[in-house]
Amino acid sequence: MAKLTYNPSVFEARDLEAARRIILTTERDQTTDLRWERETPYLADLLGKALNLKLGQTVIDYGCGVGRLSKALMEQFNCRVVGVDISEQMRSLAPGYVGWPAFSAVSPQTLDQMIADGFQGDAAISVWVLQHCVTPQDDIARLRRALPDGAPLGLVNMRGRAVPTQERGWASDGLDVDTLVRAQFPDGRTEGLDPGVVGDHIASFSYWGVYR
Ligand SMILES: C[S@@+](CC[C@H](N)C(=O)[O-])C[C@H]1O[C@@H](n2cnc3c(N)ncnc32)[C@H](O)[C@@H]1O
Repeated sequence: MAKLTYNPSVFEARDLEAARRIILTTERDQTTDLRWERETPYLADLLGKALNLKLGQTVIDYGCGVGRLSKALMEQFNCRVVGVDISEQMRSLAPGYVGWPAFSAVSPQTLDQMIADGFQGDAAISVWVLQHCVTPQDDIARLRRALPDGAPLGLVNMRGRAVPTQERGWASDGLDVDTLVRAQFPDGRTEGLDPGVVGDHIASFSYWGVYR
């Protein structure tokens, strides 16, 4: 992305309603509200079962936003969640949205410090995040350090890249996130999302996967 300037301000949200529209953009007939209502329980069930989440386990929700998936996972699987997000506004909205004391939201820098102090999660998810990261290999390395060997990472992602830039809006640098993830989590399997839930258009440009 030579000559383009990364613009993370697109993730700044003044309130919950603004955050919802940033997190799940309207894609053709799939509105933010429809996606929130239909995708959230579907992805929580899909990822939680694929990660084999158990009572009391600690899940890292990387790029948690307001904790949409954190809340759904906690309610279905009785797990604890450490949400991680670069956006201060998302981090401050998240505890109120999630509403469970076993949730906390931290910055990537705080997660790094927690890892240095010995923290490790039992599993991690990252949903609609790595496609937007300016140096995804660094985020994937952070996730790798945050998990013990063999612990699962569940992803939902676009096949292409959409990095926010000042000059050109959402831009692609041509990186393949699946290849980057497999470099650090070599045992991976990916599948398409169910078009009956997410709609044909979203299913056409996305995938989900579990990597260890
Ligand atoms: C499209 S939203 C998805 C939020 C949430 N995962 C969900 O599905 O409801 C992307 C989120 O990733 C966060 N994000 C972007 N780059 C990040 C990074 N390098 N590290 C942590 N969070 C990041 C943004 O601030 C934003 O809240």
